[in-house]
Amino acid sequence: MNNIAVLISGRGSNLKALLDACTDGRLDATICAVISDNPNALGLVFAQDHGIATHVVEKLPHQNRQEYDRRLISTLELIDADWIALAGFMRILGSELVNRYIGKLVNIHPSLLPAYIGLNTHQRVIDANEPKHGATVHFVTEELDGGPIIKQQSLDVLPSDTAESLAERVLQIEHKLYPLVMQFLISGHARYENGKCYLDD
Ligand code: GRF
Repeated sequence: MNNIAVLISGRGSNLKALLDACTDGRLDATICAVISDNPNALGLVFAQDHGIATHVVEKLPHQNRQEYDRRLISTLELIDADWIALAGFMRILGSELVNRYIGKLVNIHPSLLPAYIGLNTHQRVIDANEPKHGATVHFVTEELDGGPIIKQQSLDVLPSDTAESLAERVLQIEHKLYPLVMQFLISGHARYENGKCYLDD
């Protein structure tokens, strides 16, 4: 089955890109639910407006990562998702959750991994005078932004670029890349095996 749960913390533009791809046939899947750790995430409103079930799994005070992840697992089990797409979900997931969904859990990151893991990638790319930047979709493992890369796409950094202009252009790449990769996975063209990503052809 091709049910995708999308996990967000913010505006949800990648969620919208995935939903658009499902609607116009580029992605043979259903967005079965949106989960957020942030009750005020704008993407939740978008999901509700489009009839997608939403769940808020907020971090409770004094709750550690393992306890949080267990609540997240309970919600994911309820949803019965086949794939979990992290799209701006601002929490690091622990080993129990990651290993439970290994190979089915993917993330999009705004850099050409393994360069620039973590936050604030656009400004760091500019500060380092990098000629190239881009976006990566990868399987999620316990290592932050470190799982096997499925696909990435680059762009040239222009002398006139600011962090804002780069963010905008990278986001446009993301919105095409994420649906494409999800379709690779769903159709079996890309798969996770023994810590590696295998692509047909
Ligand atoms: C994207 O840049 C994504 O790569 C990163 O978080 C951002 C989420 O943006 N992981 P949006 O909420 O999908 O608009």
